[in-house]
Amino acid sequence: MTKRKLQRFAENSTFDHFFQPYYHELISGFRLRGKWNSDFFKNENPLVVELGCGKGEFTVGLGRKYPEKNFIGIDVKGARLWRGAKTTDDENLPNIAFIRRQVEHLEHLFAPGEVDEIWITFPVPQIKNTAVKKRLTSPQFLNRYRKVAKTSTIIHLKTDNTMFFDYTLEVIQEQNLPLLFMSYDIYENPDHQDVTSIQTHYENIFAAKGETIKYLKFILH
Ligand SMILES: C[S@@+](CC[C@H](N)C(=O)[O-])C[C@H]1O[C@@H](n2cnc3c(N)ncnc32)[C@H](O)[C@@H]1O
Repeated sequence: MTKRKLQRFAENSTFDHFFQPYYHELISGFRLRGKWNSDFFKNENPLVVELGCGKGEFTVGLGRKYPEKNFIGIDVKGARLWRGAKTTDDENLPNIAFIRRQVEHLEHLFAPGEVDEIWITFPVPQIKNTAVKKRLTSPQFLNRYRKVAKTSTIIHLKTDNTMFFDYTLEVIQEQNLPLLFMSYDIYENPDHQDVTSIQTHYENIFAAKGETIKYLKFILH
């Protein structure tokens, strides 16, 4: 591990809005599960979660724009999360937190009905057929989201990957979920400011390669 990564890991643990609960803490009952608003954000605002947030550009960007909502970015990679956590700390943004954990552990991090909205930004496409259930919009993951989401939660997906996008459209159709909007080139659609006003690290990489950016949103029930 590089010295810089070690420094970032050490600094993460000094941020009061950065959490990396051990698995045993999760299964014995994580102290903020069901209490993010009452015990951490100390308000009753809607809770928006970004899954696989990487460096957290999207969570930070939305958090700056919507101080009347709470935002939590989740990723497994501590060195990436450091970027978002550092900006949040530097700018003293009270409505943002980051959690270093697998999305698979969502139900240990949040109580039923605690999450109001979900963003999935540039997920790993998991292209092998044997990895289908690892896709963040697979039926298995949608069932995980159902355990923590409010009834009729909106899920947003932003991706460069056509296979992943089409796969998600199929799952939405198979499960008879209302599709609110979809575009194979969101930058052709000036009406979707929240989607186009913030670029993530991976978005910039894919856009530089000439990929169009796809976006859809649907209701999970
Ligand atoms: C392609 S990157 C995109 C990161 C960021 N959303 C962006 O657009 O720059 C995918 C991210 O998902 C994270 N990730 C993949 N599977 C995950 C899982 N099961 N739980 C938590 N994070 C995961 C990876 O660590 C990585 O940071």
